[in-house]
Amino acid sequence: MFLKNKLVPSAAALLLCAGLSGQAFAHGDVTPQGVDTEGLEQLGDEWRDENPYRAPYENNELAVKIGSSAYNQNCARCHGLEGISGGIAPDLRMLDPGYDGDEWYQYRVVNGAVRDGKVYMPKMADYISQEGLWAIRTYLESLPVDE
Ligand code: HEC
Repeated sequence: MFLKNKLVPSAAALLLCAGLSGQAFAHGDVTPQGVDTEGLEQLGDEWRDENPYRAPYENNELAVKIGSSAYNQNCARCHGLEGISGGIAPDLRMLDPGYDGDEWYQYRVVNGAVRDGKVYMPKMADYISQEGLWAIRTYLESLPVDE
């Protein structure tokens, strides 16, 4: 298993990522897909500091459901099915709970991860709404971390 957080991806890991996603999505488009967030509170353009869909939010379960499908379509090819990282990218179940994790989560989905001009992770917020991304965070928080 990888170190909890700050994984430095190598070129080999990225090639592996490309290869794996090519296999898993041979018939699909790997462009991130928009997420239908109907039923969740709509948040506007300003980013919230904290996940607005965390319990006791009334539609927390709907957020988990929407987040699950959005995660599997948009993040799983690098971060692993069901949130269980195969080692290519960090295991997102390990993000800190609550505000601290929210802050880092938001930073990464807005900015992506680019080093030396290479895109390790696209800016997911360019493709997926704030609502969709918080739903994914809500889903990740609902997953058990012990394997
Ligand atoms: C093309 C592969 C790829 C896709 C798709 C992708 N990521 Fe990432 N992500 C990465 C890599 C690689 C890193 C590690 C970047 C680094 O450490 O520089 C990362 C890091 C992160 C981090 C920081 C994790 C940590 O422990 O520091 C978050 C949060 C994150 N991704 C969320 C997401 C979400 C949410 C999605 C889907 C909406 C997503 N990513 C889609 C490759 C990807």
